Amino acid sequence: MSDFSNRVARLRKERKLTQQEMAEALKLSRQTVSNWEKGRIEPSIGVISKIASYYGVTIDFLLGHEMYTTQYERKYQQEGFYWGRKINCLAHEVLRLMPPQRPLRLLDVGCGEGQAAVFFARNGYHVTAFDIAESGLEKGRQLAKAAGIHVDFFQCDLLHHELINTYDIIYSTDVLEYVPSRKRENVLRGFRGHTAVGGLNVLDTFVEKSFIKTAPDWEHDKEFYWQTGELFSHYRGNWRIELCEESIFDCDSSGVPHQHCMDMMIARRMV
Ligand SMILES: C[S@@+](CC[C@H](N)C(=O)[O-])C[C@H]1O[C@@H](n2cnc3c(N)ncnc32)[C@H](O)[C@@H]1O
Repeated sequence: MSDFSNRVARLRKERKLTQQEMAEALKLSRQTVSNWEKGRIEPSIGVISKIASYYGVTIDFLLGHEMYTTQYERKYQQEGFYWGRKINCLAHEVLRLMPPQRPLRLLDVGCGEGQAAVFFARNGYHVTAFDIAESGLEKGRQLAKAAGIHVDFFQCDLLHHELINTYDIIYSTDVLEYVPSRKRENVLRGFRGHTAVGGLNVLDTFVEKSFIKTAPDWEHDKEFYWQTGELFSHYRGNWRIELCEESIFDCDSSGVPHQHCMDMMIARRMV
């Protein structure tokens, strides 16, 4: 499936339109819209331009050359910290397993409002952190400034970014559910390949359970459950699993109490 077919389908679903309604608005047949979304055909540049103005996005966005932001961009623009100031237990595990007794480079992927990134920098790690949501990064920058420490924050889409540097620790919490299945091995290959020998990958993600209802704020076109154990299956051979845990916890991120099931993993690169 091309970026175009994914995005044209996402935009339609986000606006709660049927294929028929979209086709009528663009004076085309429903079959044409269906074929775009299935990746069977792509429209001419003239039609792409019409679709872009219909949805109020750029042609570059439709073709996948611009980032697709998440609901958090808006949430992070509100006052205060959407995720609060509490630090994920995995961050404390990093301190325990790999304390910064020498200069250690840590990458926080999908850092949100930067709480964990600032926590690591305060504890002496050299921290780089990115997220797709610029408003979250801005909060992180302010937090770092107030703490008198430095974090290299930058905006970037995990799905379209090739890592350049090597890190001692790659840390990413509550982000991998934004990676569709077909892109997972590619993203995790990037993490593994850019981790120094002896370094850690510290990750968690939501897994599907038939007895847990999907959260009310789940972004159906952007968030994708993993299967139990799937995360660990990407870390074989040269990797030693230091922590492997599945848990169910309560959450009220949307104001409506619900539950999640999460797999957590810390893997160490041995060779
Ligand atoms: C649930 S929040 C978690 C934030 C932070 N890691 C934490 O644990 O508090 C998910 C974050 O992933 C970011 N995100 C989602 N898709 C992304 C992508 N493709 N590239 C970079 N960041 C992404 C969102 O903007 C959001 O800040």
